[in-house]
Amino acid sequence: MKKILDQIAEKLADAFAEAGYGEAPAKVTLSNRPDLCDYQCNGALAAAKQYKKAPMVIAEEVIAALGDCGMFSEVSAAKPGFINMRLSGPYLSGELNEMAADPAAGIEPDPESVIMIDFGGANIAKPLHVGHLRSAIIGESLKRIFRAKGQKVIGDAHLGDWGLQMGLIIAEMSERQPELPYFDPAFEGPYPEEAPFTIGELEEIYPTANAKSKEDEAFREKAKQATFELQQGRAGYRALWNHIKEVSLADLKKNYGRLKVEFDLWKAESDAQPYIPDMVRELKDSGHAYISEGALVVDVKEETDQKEIPPCMILKSDNATLYSTTDLATLVERRKLFDPDRIIYVVDKRQGMHFEQVFRCAKKTGIVRPETQLDFLGFGTMNGKDGKPFKTRDGGVLRLEVLLNDVSEAVSERMHAQGDRGLSDEEIGDTARMIALAAIKYGDLSNQATKDYIFDIDRFTSFEGNTGPYILYTIVRIGSILKKYYAADDGSCSLTSAELFAGKVPEGYVSEGILPAVGESERDLQLKLAEYPLFVEAAVQDLAPHKICQYVYELSDTFNSFYHETRILAEEDAARKSSYIALITLTGKVLSECIGLLGFEAPERM
Ligand code: ARG
Repeated sequence: MKKILDQIAEKLADAFAEAGYGEAPAKVTLSNRPDLCDYQCNGALAAAKQYKKAPMVIAEEVIAALGDCGMFSEVSAAKPGFINMRLSGPYLSGELNEMAADPAAGIEPDPESVIMIDFGGANIAKPLHVGHLRSAIIGESLKRIFRAKGQKVIGDAHLGDWGLQMGLIIAEMSERQPELPYFDPAFEGPYPEEAPFTIGELEEIYPTANAKSKEDEAFREKAKQATFELQQGRAGYRALWNHIKEVSLADLKKNYGRLKVEFDLWKAESDAQPYIPDMVRELKDSGHAYISEGALVVDVKEETDQKEIPPCMILKSDNATLYSTTDLATLVERRKLFDPDRIIYVVDKRQGMHFEQVFRCAKKTGIVRPETQLDFLGFGTMNGKDGKPFKTRDGGVLRLEVLLNDVSEAVSERMHAQGDRGLSDEEIGDTARMIALAAIKYGDLSNQATKDYIFDIDRFTSFEGNTGPYILYTIVRIGSILKKYYAADDGSCSLTSAELFAGKVPEGYVSEGILPAVGESERDLQLKLAEYPLFVEAAVQDLAPHKICQYVYELSDTFNSFYHETRILAEEDAARKSSYIALITLTGKVLSECIGLLGFEAPERM
């Protein structure tokens, strides 16, 4: 459905044309002075320059040309030449009824394009750290937001499986269990099917090997050599590497699953390696790459640069490839396999320079099409209350299960403290996990991604304020009012909140839909609902899930004000009561859509 803002803009464009200002842009925005108007147009100011006439005069003429179109209850000119509009009750409620009937709740699709989102970025065999958690949360939300806008989105986990960490594990294993066939160059296979370690052991092997390599030069050399031989294709090392990947991947999938993070592709750095030789040859042949101090590089600095952008390194002097080589080859691979129109990287902002170099190099050398849009969404650090990068209770690196468990525990403590709601312990456990996920994700996404933020379990799990649990609480509240309204004689309701929000009703109920608002908080709620598509657009425009958080919080607050001021179920006028029900049903639907875009769900009760 066409959103209100566009309908108004069209109406006004017609009125400008009719008044003789056809060339003037009728840009309409949401009012930032809700006390004065709902929507505002500054077209008369632009027309004034063009037609050399006082803006107030133009505004008045346009308003006269607008006449009574039924969309507004009030249109007025305000100095220095704004056109202020209030929506008419019937028009607004009519739009909301359309939104209620629309499965997309008023979100219009954009022309389809193929967008790849490179997020997650976990490293095989290394523990997930907070950066990977943020990337997963933000990337998952972006993926959902773009899909809601009709885009074909391919989410790629782009696992790190090609670095020194692999050589470290191989070296360490070769010292612990030298008798294994993986280390015998004469062994001709087949290698064992079963991995020689569990995920628990693997998680211990890497840090041990890593620490050892920092103290023991010989060991470090051994690990480097093993990395090199692995990359060259030594069969035993490849077999061991495959075990590491398998064991690690199963664990990663479990962890991402708990976070409700899904990837369409589980590609890894190693998948791009076959593209490197041709790519390097072409870079050399085209003259883009040249040898500088022994290394193969491509210049990427530009005249307008404010700061020094070093050349993009393709091969080190010993011919070894680098992180940038892999990312460039991944672009070659992605173009070949998916030909995306846009790729968005959700990675720690400290990698900004790396991506700047890679993007420039890819554009300059034609690795990507000139029109392919490459975006780096660099995020800040998740800190603990001490201002240092967050650590879980056990003090070590972040372990996702531990984090989820800590937060779930904090939530169930709160639930127990709030007294018995007739929930069984099992229900409390399940619900607490859902709320915990909302607390973690909302706590992250409500901040502008580029900023650092403090992970504060107490604040994030609070049922009040700008938190995930507060939003869930609001949704549960709406669900429970609806279930009371639709309750059978025995007090039970056969439909779930989600079904009710989707517009299902028990047999025998007819509704006239949402009526024009009579109360002020009712009107505020109606206006806020109508803003939903604008926030989704802003989130797409700025790659900013926090705009959805801002909206979902405002909508929750607006609903709760309405709820506190209105006796919904005790309303005596049946038509009005049924209109209230339709209004809060739409509120429940939009809130649920929003948290869906953020990547979490509401429980039935809490
Ligand atoms: N594995 C990397 C890391 O842990 C992140 C990967 C980001 N994506 C990319 N295409 N480089 O830092």
